[in-house]
Amino acid sequence: MASRALVYILFVSALTVVSVHCNSEGDALHAWRNSLSDPKGILQSWDPTLINPCTWFHVTCNGKNSVVRVDLGNAGLQGPLIPELGVLRNLQYLELFNNNITGSIPAEIGNLTNLISLDLYLNKLSGNIPASLGNLKSLVFLRLNNNNLTGSIPTGLIQLILYGNLSIMNVANNSLAGTVHPKKQTRYAVTTIIQDPRAPK
Ligand SMILES: *[C@@H]1O[C@H](CO)[C@@H](O)[C@H](O)[C@H]1NC(C)=O
Ligand SMILES: *[C@@H]1O[C@H](CO)[C@@H](O)[C@H](O)[C@H]1NC(C)=O
Ligand SMILES: *[C@@H]1O[C@H](CO)[C@@H](O)[C@H](O)[C@H]1NC(C)=O
Ligand SMILES: *[C@@H]1O[C@H](CO)[C@@H](O)[C@H](O)[C@H]1NC(C)=O
Ligand SMILES: *[C@@H]1O[C@H](CO)[C@@H](O)[C@H](O)[C@H]1NC(C)=O
Repeated sequence: MASRALVYILFVSALTVVSVHCNSEGDALHAWRNSLSDPKGILQSWDPTLINPCTWFHVTCNGKNSVVRVDLGNAGLQGPLIPELGVLRNLQYLELFNNNITGSIPAEIGNLTNLISLDLYLNKLSGNIPASLGNLKSLVFLRLNNNNLTGSIPTGLIQLILYGNLSIMNVANNSLAGTVHPKKQTRYAVTTIIQDPRAPK
């Protein structure tokens, strides 16, 4: 009897560990929500007491309840990206164009190695483009244009264009320095790097 109870307790604690682990993605998204101002109430459905974030609006999961899309373009959001977003291991689409996202791009975004599209177009991001974005081997589409980014384009991103899947990289309308390659033929597509017209020569 005692051993049966022990087995039961072990089973329940194992379940608890699994569910806590599963909701690390919900916890990260909820921490991000708490750091944002959301004047249109777009994130109202982001309830952290749910077992996972898969029923939240603007969040899409795969069959294993892991987040694959966050679609928050034109959402009126104001505030930073946070390093915790780096836990969204299966994220493929991070769509945040036309908000008031401020601060710098956390290096942890480079941990999102399944990203296909990272769209930060038309925000108020500043600081350097982190070199870790060169880790995004699945990336096809990258828009960083119309922000206030400085420094140079990390060589890792150029490598993704030359040898990886990155087909569109738009970095125009920032304050970036560096070389311009208007068009490059790659294995996958004609890659367009749209460079900052205001770049220091
Ligand atoms: C950014 O914030 C300003 C001031 O609150 C607001 O007028 C503007 O509409 C916001 N832009 C976007 C894209 O949400
Ligand atoms: C996530 O990214 C940061 C910054 O690039 C790095 O230091 C850290 O080791 C990464 N974490 C994991 C679990 O890969
Ligand atoms: C860009 O950043 C610089 C320095 O941080 C600041 O002086 C400038 O006002 C910013 N420009 C815009 C359009 O936000
Ligand atoms: C490009 O993406 C495909 C999947 O669409 C993947 O199999 C491949 O490894 C990626 N290429 C590189 C260089 O990572
Ligand atoms: C850069 O900004 C100008 C002025 O806002 C705009 O007309 C142009 O389309 C922008 N370029 C890109 C590539 O986003």
